[in-house]
Amino acid sequence: MMNAATNQGQSAVPLDKFLALPDFEPAAKQVLPHPVYEYIASGAGNEITLIENERAYDRIRIWPRVLNDVRSVDTTVPLFGKMLSSPILLAPAAYQGAMHPSGELGTVRGAGRAGIPFVVSTNTTIPIEELIKEARAPLWFQLYTQNDRGYTSDLVQEVEASGCEAVCVTVDTPVLGIRTRQFRAGFQLPPGVSTPHNRRGGGAGGNIDPSLHSHLQWQDIDWLRSIVRSKLWVKGILHPDDADRAIKMGVDGIMVSNHGARNIDTIPATIDVLPAIHERVAGRVPVIVDGGIRRGTDVLKALMRGATAVMMGRPYLYALAVGGEDGVARCIELLTKELIYVLRLVGKASVKELDRSLEWPPVAS
Ligand SMILES: Cc1cc2nc3c(=O)[nH]c(=O)nc-3n(C[C@H](O)[C@H](O)[C@H](O)COP(=O)(O)O)c2cc1C
Repeated sequence: MMNAATNQGQSAVPLDKFLALPDFEPAAKQVLPHPVYEYIASGAGNEITLIENERAYDRIRIWPRVLNDVRSVDTTVPLFGKMLSSPILLAPAAYQGAMHPSGELGTVRGAGRAGIPFVVSTNTTIPIEELIKEARAPLWFQLYTQNDRGYTSDLVQEVEASGCEAVCVTVDTPVLGIRTRQFRAGFQLPPGVSTPHNRRGGGAGGNIDPSLHSHLQWQDIDWLRSIVRSKLWVKGILHPDDADRAIKMGVDGIMVSNHGARNIDTIPATIDVLPAIHERVAGRVPVIVDGGIRRGTDVLKALMRGATAVMMGRPYLYALAVGGEDGVARCIELLTKELIYVLRLVGKASVKELDRSLEWPPVAS
């Protein structure tokens, strides 16, 4: 297997050998330095929720219908008056320059080839202005406010002026989670890799300093609403009351997320809290869910339970490590193809037709 460090984006790795998202992780483990692999793969605490995020999808049974016309399938999703080509986005993830030499440039190019949005982390290793030059699909910006309103306000202005179409403020990380496995592996940013939009410009070590994290309170959402001119999402909602309050404060969208189980252990899987949040949101704003999306059936289940779209995290990071831009494009292609197959197999011609009538056992309405 090719070493990730020598793989500059146009991949010599035979990506047609990768047939499903879970194939990327073992290959990435081989090419990544151990601390970087551990940084991606690990979760908080005893990793109960990390496992649960995937298992909760596995427990849901699909109840298909037959004999419908599924010769052509529509995966487009309307969002804020535009169309997304599919209900799949790339979740924000820090420090991609440690995962592949192309870093976030590989991801932005891979996402662009598939025409799907990429949410760029505040802890990107490539400046947003460079990423936007390469973007062929919408770029959204994930915001860590870093406890500094002046810095945050400038940063929001900068990313919006660059062309980011949305700001997703992460609200579930007042301090970094207790990531024993990551800490044990001693993950640090490699020399020469930095984070230009982090207040310290620092690396993973700096990020562990809680003063640099985002100790937000509700009044800060009011303030953010007043400075964000593009769409404002809150990322990290797990409770219907929090979703409701954020919507009443004027946010444009809710991201149901437990941060990929990296912050607090033994909290519920996101797919299990989604129905209650969907019910409370009641169509007022779109809802995106992430955590544990690995298969087309997972995307289907999330949409069945009321998500407008989903984000994936780890799978595309492993794909980036293995094959740079080509790896990311292959990863998105595989998930999208699976979704199209699954739609046909359950007898639905459009993602817009999905609801809980496809769930077994029947859900009381
Ligand atoms: C390596 C890694 C880095 C991440 N960095 C960020 C980040 O900078 N900001 C953020 O809001 N979420 C971050 N996340 C969380 C993801 O946005 C997303 O919520 C999560 O990965 C989804 O779960 P999945 O990996 O099971 O698909 C990160 C996740 C991973 C795996």
